[in-house]
Amino acid sequence: MPILKTEKLTKKFGGLVAVKNIDFEVNEKEIVGIIGANGAGKTTLFNCISGNLKTTSGKVIFDNKDITGHKPYEIAELGLARTFQVVRPFANKSVLYNVTVGAFLRTNQKSEAIEKAKEIINFLNLSSKTEVLAKNLTLPERKRLELARALATSPVLLMLDEVMAGLRPAEIQDMLKIIEKINKKGIAIVIIEHIMQVIMSVSNRIYCMNFGEKIASGTPQEITKDKNVIKAYLGDEYGIPEN
Ligand SMILES: Nc1ncnc2c1ncn2[C@@H]1O[C@H](COP(=O)(O)OP(=O)(O)O)[C@@H](O)[C@H]1O
Ligand SMILES: [Mg+2]
Repeated sequence: MPILKTEKLTKKFGGLVAVKNIDFEVNEKEIVGIIGANGAGKTTLFNCISGNLKTTSGKVIFDNKDITGHKPYEIAELGLARTFQVVRPFANKSVLYNVTVGAFLRTNQKSEAIEKAKEIINFLNLSSKTEVLAKNLTLPERKRLELARALATSPVLLMLDEVMAGLRPAEIQDMLKIIEKINKKGIAIVIIEHIMQVIMSVSNRIYCMNFGEKIASGTPQEITKDKNVIKAYLGDEYGIPEN
């Protein structure tokens, strides 16, 4: 059963069609990857789904509800959380404060929110940074904080926009383990990522976008063999030759 579905989703910026007629689906508990060159429309698709941008036409259905045009906080309340490619924590506040803000979506009790936040901070191996100001975190820590803030809202679907960008290989492996742990809790995940090995290893299905259009979707194996994907994105050296 799809938890999220878009129907012919389109977003225009003036004359530029950044997202064009996209049918996109995420099933419960699934990990879905989105690939595509810079400017392909991946972040814009996220923004339209999460209510951060007004869609031009088409529909977004989440948990069987039409959420097209709904406000970001209303969508978050329904259980859809996302991270931002450009992380935006409260820089002069602590890790605990930042994560607690997310937890307040589900409770008005300060003690409950703090408890939930601490649990998430612990889950993301950030406990030693609880009282550190967000601005003083390293890049990998900031990426984990961004994830923690989203997780604190108790989502059923989590959308990650390049959470591994700029990380070293070992840090990427840590992040992958975290993502798999989150998914094992039953949370569906949509992940935009440039690093092919990462997206191939973690995704159940992948969509490839090019100039706003969906040019392919399928299993990682299907995607690496897809002629359109190879031509538009992967380059010949990534494709598995057909015999
Ligand atoms: N707020 C905006 N106003 C105008 N053009 C935008 C805006 N956001 C994105 N775009 C344009 O839309 C296209 C898709 O951008 P984006 O969704 O950020 O791509 P991706 O995330 O795949 O790199 C790009 O050509 C980009 O310049
Ligand atoms: Mg982007």
